[in-house]
Amino acid sequence: MLSRHWPGLLFLLCMSSGMIAAAAVSQAIDLPEAPGKQQVLDSCTRCHGVDVIIAQPRSPDEWTEVVSIMVGHGTVLTDAEYDRILAYLSANLGPKEPAN
Ligand code: HEC
Repeated sequence: MLSRHWPGLLFLLCMSSGMIAAAAVSQAIDLPEAPGKQQVLDSCTRCHGVDVIIAQPRSPDEWTEVVSIMVGHGTVLTDAEYDRILAYLSANLGPKEPAN
């Protein structure tokens, strides 16, 4: 009797631990909660995910350079959007981790 139920039980266990792991990963690559986040999501995730943006901390100068390169790739930003994005990236994705 027990052996008949084992495979199904194991399957359920694997499924649920997999889902917990997936949830943890998607948490870890989320942008920090701060003003400007929505702008970055709107303007910067058309061609790649936020993972690319979060992967490496950068100084404000480096972010300015990255955003210029992205404009070269075809990112269209108004001056206000550009300022908001740079302020967000510099404040939240700089070399030292923000205190959460
Ligand atoms: C039009 C498409 C497009 C948009 C929109 C876009 N990117 Fe990119 N991004 C790319 C491409 C293509 C690459 C890979 C080539 C490269 O690194 O230049 C990339 C790479 C990157 C990298 C990795 C660069 C590296 O050298 O490691 C970062 C960081 C990045 N993008 C940030 C941003 C930010 C911030 C925005 C919003 C302002 C943005 N991207 C919007 C196309 C885009």
